[in-house]
Amino acid sequence: MFFDNEPDDHLKDSLDTTTDAQQNRPVILMSGMRPTGRLHLGHYVGVIANWLKLQTQHPSYFMIADWHALTTQYASPQKLNEHTLGLAIDWLAAGIDPETATLYVQSWVPEILEINALLSMATPVKWLETDPTLKDMVALTKEDLNLGLLGYPVLQTADILSVGGTHVPVGKDQLAHLEVSRDIARRMNHLYGAPLFAEPKPMLTETPLLMGLDGRKMGKSLNNGIYLSDTQDEVLQKIKREAITDTQRVKRNDPGTPSNCPGVFPYYQIFAPQLVTTVDAECRSAARGCMDCKKQLTEHINALLAPMHQKRAEYEADKGQVIALLKAGSQKAREQAQAVLGRVKAAMNWRF
Ligand code: TRP
Ligand code: SF4
Repeated sequence: MFFDNEPDDHLKDSLDTTTDAQQNRPVILMSGMRPTGRLHLGHYVGVIANWLKLQTQHPSYFMIADWHALTTQYASPQKLNEHTLGLAIDWLAAGIDPETATLYVQSWVPEILEINALLSMATPVKWLETDPTLKDMVALTKEDLNLGLLGYPVLQTADILSVGGTHVPVGKDQLAHLEVSRDIARRMNHLYGAPLFAEPKPMLTETPLLMGLDGRKMGKSLNNGIYLSDTQDEVLQKIKREAITDTQRVKRNDPGTPSNCPGVFPYYQIFAPQLVTTVDAECRSAARGCMDCKKQLTEHINALLAPMHQKRAEYEADKGQVIALLKAGSQKAREQAQAVLGRVKAAMNWRF
């Protein structure tokens, strides 16, 4: 699968070394996700697969961003509990290793908010107003912009800098926020005359964006995604019923066109690239029918998900263990954040 491959050039400089040559700091990875619901295959290929590879190479902090979730979902905070635990279990089931990586909950590290306050002073509102990702989020809420949401990229910067993050493995949608983070880090260093912070760099995967089974963006609202927690049968039923194939191919003997098959062919490219040439040829010559093609794809996806189901069952049966490891991770993150705060205040010459 693509994610077992060698890192692409884009990642190489930072991966092959343990220090970030440019800034002469050890590489520390920091990333996070908002607890808003179950993870799907798009999250897996876009972000999680990258984390799995990177966690073995560098110290990694993976954070459940519950305050960030609240910036838009402040009216339904009761969902946070379930989603926080659900996200932790999704990560653990996917193979995020709590022995190597630090898993924690944002709101259990209150120092992040203190760092956020300091960064906010150094952040012109203009920088936030021109962040295109934030603009999109604001447009989606269809409400007056609240202060918390306006500060979203600053809080994200506080997340990264509070644990000394130098590299941030995220999806492309986060690049604009990361630009703001770099600007804030630079401004803090400039203001307080000390190299307090690394300017955090994004680390992207080159995986093409995985669309939903209907060829539209994969997401909750469209119900067109395969979730990491879906059972083998659910995966089969979804692919059978929802995956849109070449609509011009009416009869079994009609030759097909893989590029017109948004719900199956792109999945082969990601989950079974070794079969792409065969599928392509057999589709074009009508040697392969869509039902068989879907079944074969299902087998590959289920093979990827099977070990995750097993781990999930273990963690679901012992949620206390999950909470305990999040607590331990949050404690570790707090200690880092306290040290960072100490350094910032010292650089500010702020003693009392
Ligand atoms: N904004 C990120 C997202 O929506 C989540 C996030 C919060 C994050 N804090 C972060 C990502 C810090 C990377 C680093 O996916
Ligand atoms: Fe798509 Fe496979 Fe059918 Fe071709 S044979 S249209 S690739 S499902």
